Amino acid sequence: MNFKEVLKMADEMVFAKTGKHLDDLQEAILRGTMQGEKYTKIADEIHCNESYVRDIGSKLWQILSEELGEDVSKTNFRSAMQRLQVSIVSHYAQDSVQIGLVNFCGEARHPPNIPNPHPPNQETSHQDLSEMPELGDFFDRTHELKTLTTWILQQNCRLITLTGISGIGKTSLAVQLVQQIKHEFEYAVWYTLDEFPTIDKFQSNLIQLFSNSENLDSSPTNQKRLPLIKYLQNHRCLVVLDDVHNLFCSGELAGKYKPNYEEYRSLFKQIEKLSHQSCFLLIGWEPPKEVPQLTSQNTPIRTLQLTGLDTAAAREILRDKGLAEIDNCEALIHRYQGNPSWLKSVATLIQELGIGAAELLIDDTVLLPEDLKDVLQQQFSRLSEIEKQVLSLFCRESEPVNLAKLLECGTVRSPDLLNALQSLSRRCFIDKAGSFYTLPPVLRQYVQEL
Ligand SMILES: Nc1ncnc2c1ncn2[C@@H]1O[C@H](COP(=O)(O)OP(=O)(O)O)[C@@H](O)[C@H]1O
Ligand SMILES: [Mg+2]
Repeated sequence: MNFKEVLKMADEMVFAKTGKHLDDLQEAILRGTMQGEKYTKIADEIHCNESYVRDIGSKLWQILSEELGEDVSKTNFRSAMQRLQVSIVSHYAQDSVQIGLVNFCGEARHPPNIPNPHPPNQETSHQDLSEMPELGDFFDRTHELKTLTTWILQQNCRLITLTGISGIGKTSLAVQLVQQIKHEFEYAVWYTLDEFPTIDKFQSNLIQLFSNSENLDSSPTNQKRLPLIKYLQNHRCLVVLDDVHNLFCSGELAGKYKPNYEEYRSLFKQIEKLSHQSCFLLIGWEPPKEVPQLTSQNTPIRTLQLTGLDTAAAREILRDKGLAEIDNCEALIHRYQGNPSWLKSVATLIQELGIGAAELLIDDTVLLPEDLKDVLQQQFSRLSEIEKQVLSLFCRESEPVNLAKLLECGTVRSPDLLNALQSLSRRCFIDKAGSFYTLPPVLRQYVQEL
């Protein structure tokens, strides 16, 4: 088999799945695999750490397995591609071959005047993705992408919240997701909202896009009837709202609507409860109060609380700053919870102070660069007084604590304590394992420095 053809097929599948073309390392792995080389040899040739090459390799096999619908590994990659090529050739005179998200078709199969019955990766007919940020480097998140794609495309979930602490990678993950699945929708829209418009304005914006009409009747009475739902029923739409925490009050428990945004609650309720073929993805630091954190498979509503990157991906972020090989690299990643933004911030500080500063981190020191403090300050200032009190209780304890231990302190009444713990957990300020809670090191350090 011609390696160029193999590369082209693999590249198309990887692009369909991740929105990115093969990079040099992935290409080298495929070339080495086609030549029957072991990982050790491939790693040597490209002067890369072998375990890293293995890791990237296994992710690549996973992507290709999902696209091809069969298990692909280093040992059977060559034969899998041969089978794919045979299948494309045997369908040559018939239809295009749909493999995963990719439509393989040669130009000769569809002469210019005969419409292709399955247009390859057809652009969504109506998109307003002008507010969607550009994606920078993007590592890992295979599992989360798979979960979200399943919820949206297979289980037809109507309302999904994607939450997590600032900098954890929510927006980046959603951008990657939209790039991968937008073709499945007639409409794809992205709003990043520092300040949310009134509900009437918001709906009329969307309707304008749907109806494509300049002379839309935008009288408030007309909009009170919520005609938006009709568009969501008639068309398959993907609507992404980023930074939804701007809908909610500061100084209150998580997810309480600001008085002038209360009507968004009814809109989201309708999106969840009424039958339609569209999906709203809400991204933010906290979910709306009424959205449960744990949802069953039978409901059209889901929540994904995003946690940090895995060690290999987080190491890539440090590699960019020349810190991937320092002795305490893994400890650093763990301490900053694999949060890409926090890691970038602390890595920049270490880089600017000189690599020796990394030695500071051998003990339990948690450096808080100013930019990181600023971001935490924005989130901390949103907490209610009761949540701040509970956080200071956590600071007194060095080990994970359970409810009984927190109540022993006697400073917070039990109903308040329960509400505060739920709210802090929804904001990802505390981690829960079984019946024990912990305050992660970065937040602990921040609260202690206040
Ligand atoms: N999977 C990832 N791989 C590499 N960098 C990432 C990844 N996810 C996020 N980042 C980087 O981390 C920073 C914060 O990401 P962002 O998506 O804005 O977080 P959030 O929306 O949760 O605040 C950005 O600089 C982004 O490029
Ligand atoms: Mg964001």
